[in-house]
Amino acid sequence: LKTTAKALVCAVSIGLAGIAHAADPIVIKFSHVVAEHTPKGQGALLFKKLAEERLPGEVKVEVYPNSSLFGDGKEMEALLMGDVQIIAPSLAKFEHYSKGIQIFDLPFLFDDMAAVDRFQKGPVGQELLSSMEDKGITGLGYWHNGLKQLSANKKLLEPKDARGLKFRVQASAVLEEQFKAVRANPRKMSFAEVYQGLQTGVVNGAENPYSNIYSQKMHEVQKYITESNHGLLDYMVITNTKFWNELPKHVSKELRAIMDEVTVEVNKHAHELNMRDKQSIIDAGKTEILYLTKEQREKWREVMRPVWKKFEAEIGAERIKAAEAANQ
Ligand code: LMR
Repeated sequence: LKTTAKALVCAVSIGLAGIAHAADPIVIKFSHVVAEHTPKGQGALLFKKLAEERLPGEVKVEVYPNSSLFGDGKEMEALLMGDVQIIAPSLAKFEHYSKGIQIFDLPFLFDDMAAVDRFQKGPVGQELLSSMEDKGITGLGYWHNGLKQLSANKKLLEPKDARGLKFRVQASAVLEEQFKAVRANPRKMSFAEVYQGLQTGVVNGAENPYSNIYSQKMHEVQKYITESNHGLLDYMVITNTKFWNELPKHVSKELRAIMDEVTVEVNKHAHELNMRDKQSIIDAGKTEILYLTKEQREKWREVMRPVWKKFEAEIGAERIKAAEAANQ
């Protein structure tokens, strides 16, 4: 009888422990606005996989792609309210939180992704990650998407070709000025609305990396893509500072290590994913990809470059210098 009672107590306590454990994982909602087969979409899924493998029963990561939980107009507020724990907005979406981050939107600032990498890993890039702590936002790392290409229903070869066209822009004053510089009309619009905006003619053109063009089917409603590589679309992965600081130490330490690992992976494969999607766009046969001559590209650079001056005071001249130095 004694043994049975003991076994029973044992079974009950195992049962309770089981229940307590199962009910207990820290739930991390990771919300984003792009498709799953993009660099950010893949990164979010890899983060979930590794976090759940290495902190079994302790952490559960729920990934919400395609603006299915919050669109980009709402995700920052949701993070601050604690309705979502990790988001990775494009660097164009931070102007209300950190003026310095606007640096990443300056047209023709970085020669290539290697320069972007050097800058993000350098002191200024690292400092910007923690520039929003006072607002309750902690930066965990930079994820690449890549360089942006212009698209429209007419051939954009020289800046004058863009005159009068309506371009969709992200919520960024720098990007608005960039299109004003070529006498086009910028229109702020959330990412989820871009396809429809292009389809109905609310806007005539856009700027995106190939992965976003392809996954949103924008190539079906844009006849031409100009491979301009004129600006950057990268992300800062961010979390709610209070949430992060209150995690058990071993959990935040492990999650940070995982995030660093995922960051390396995302940044290693982002270019490849964009090139794959470029090829898919070519294969779909609906859009012609145009390449600029050196002289043509130089013209775009010349007209857009004055935008830097307009934001120099907000961004900081020293930061801009550091970014230029990253081009080597
Ligand atoms: C956009 O709005 O164009 C991008 O920020 C979307 C994204 O997250 O890549």
